[in-house]
Parts: sequence; C-alpha cells; structure tokens
Amino acid sequence: MEIIIQPTPQAATDVAARIIARLLREKPDAVLGLATGSTPLLLYRTLIAMDLDWSRVTTFNLDEYIGLPREHPQSYHSFMWENLFQHVNIAKDRVHIPDGNAKDIPRSCNEYEERIREAGGIDLQVLGIGTDGHIGFNEPTSSLASRTRIKTLTRQTCKDNARFFGSEQAVPKHVITMGIGTIMEARQNLLLAFGTNKARAVAEAVEGPITSINPASILQMHPVVKVCLDEPAASNLQRADYFRWVYENKPEWQTL
Ligand code: GLP
Repeated sequence: MEIIIQPTPQAATDVAARIIARLLREKPDAVLGLATGSTPLLLYRTLIAMDLDWSRVTTFNLDEYIGLPREHPQSYHSFMWENLFQHVNIAKDRVHIPDGNAKDIPRSCNEYEERIREAGGIDLQVLGIGTDGHIGFNEPTSSLASRTRIKTLTRQTCKDNARFFGSEQAVPKHVITMGIGTIMEARQNLLLAFGTNKARAVAEAVEGPITSINPASILQMHPVVKVCLDEPAASNLQRADYFRWVYENKPEWQTL
C-alpha cells in the first residue's frame, strides 16, 4: 500500500487525478471502476477540468441502491451522470452501473460480473471508505471473497447517508455492490479519504489486522494500492511520518 498524505482534499485529489489521467493517456480504452459518495466529487470535477478523452473508456460502478428509480436524484445512476458522465465524451453503452431495479437481482449480479470479465477486467478501481471501513457497500463481516451481490446496509451507513435523503428512514436498506473479491481483482486500487471522521477506518485499514470487520483492510493483500488522504484522514496513522518520508523521497521515475 502506498499512503499519500496531502494537506488538503484538493491536493490529495490532484494526485489521484494525475494517476487516472496517466492511465487514460497510456491506455485510451482503459476499464475504470468508479465510486460514488461525497469523496470522489472533487476527483470527478478535477478530471472533467483536465479535458481527457473518454471516448474509448469503459466504466463499472461499485454499487447502487435497490428499489430507487434510476431517475431518483440519489440513485447512483443520477449521481454518476450528473457529476461525471454528462460532462465528458464517454459512450453511453460503455457505462455500467448495477441495476437496482432488476427483476432477478442475483442473476443481474452474475451478469455484472460477466460483463466485467468480458471487458477484460478493471484496470483501476476508485474507492472511498465508509466510517466503518466499508468499500463499495461491503459492510463489516462481508466475505473477503465476495462477488457482486445484494447487501443490507448497517444502521451506521444509513445514518451516514441520511444527509443525502433527508432522513435515515428514507435511505434504502438494500443495495447491490461489487464484492470484495471483485474489487481485489482490479489491477490497481485507488482509495481516497478525507476528514477526521474517516481517520479511524483508514488507520485500521492500513495498519490494523486484515479482518472482515474492516473490509478495506483486505487491500493490504493487493499488490497495487494507492491511498490518497488529507491530513485529518491520516491523523490516526502511527506511521504517518514514514509515509510522508516515502512520498517525499520517491525515485524520479516513480513520481506521481
Ligand atoms: C457510500 C458508498 C461508498 C463510499 C462511502 C463513503 O455508502 N457506497 O462507495 O465510499 O459510502 O461515502 P462518502 O464519500 O460520502 O463519505
């Protein structure tokens, strides 16, 4: 895991955006895994401003609420079109988001996995992290080998996401999410986290034991993971000084 600590969310986002921009320039038909939530908003704004060519890019989103109409302002379909896709030259048929209104959810989950495979796998997966360490909507105790499937949200996640829905009761309790096994197959993972409310989850994921209680901790087993943090999100890390030292002393050819 490479831990990149920057003074502000924008500075941490700029590093992440440069990594993605470099990938899209080197591989114009790259397959990107994308995330929702407040954390990647800055990233999407930054990528839009970079004016990259998305015409051959394929995307797969991590998750979606079950039962929310696609047009609902809080569906992840709406989120992605509003905050990224409508602003770039992506081809509509290359965008994939789990279908929270599918008649046969298990079947549509299997088909989603199949489509990822057909696309050649995910080159780079963008991740946020929940205050409980969830990635995608893989809540604590999710199988570390899980695939795309239905999950029930924890009370904590419903509380955390109530701000988008007006009340905790309005947050759908069921979701479709890529599994942890699915995320671990991405060739590269790029996790962003900002703010003190993420500090504990980040420290457990980076420096704690690998455990399904903090699903993000499995990323310690992935060979290519970059974690872009602002100072508050890094504030519980025991080895923050070492991580800063590593970043400041990167060999020229490795600079991001
Ligand atoms: C949501 C999403 C996750 C996201 C996380 C953190 O529930 N399903 O993909 O990483 O919670 O959200 P935020 O970035 O708003 O803190």
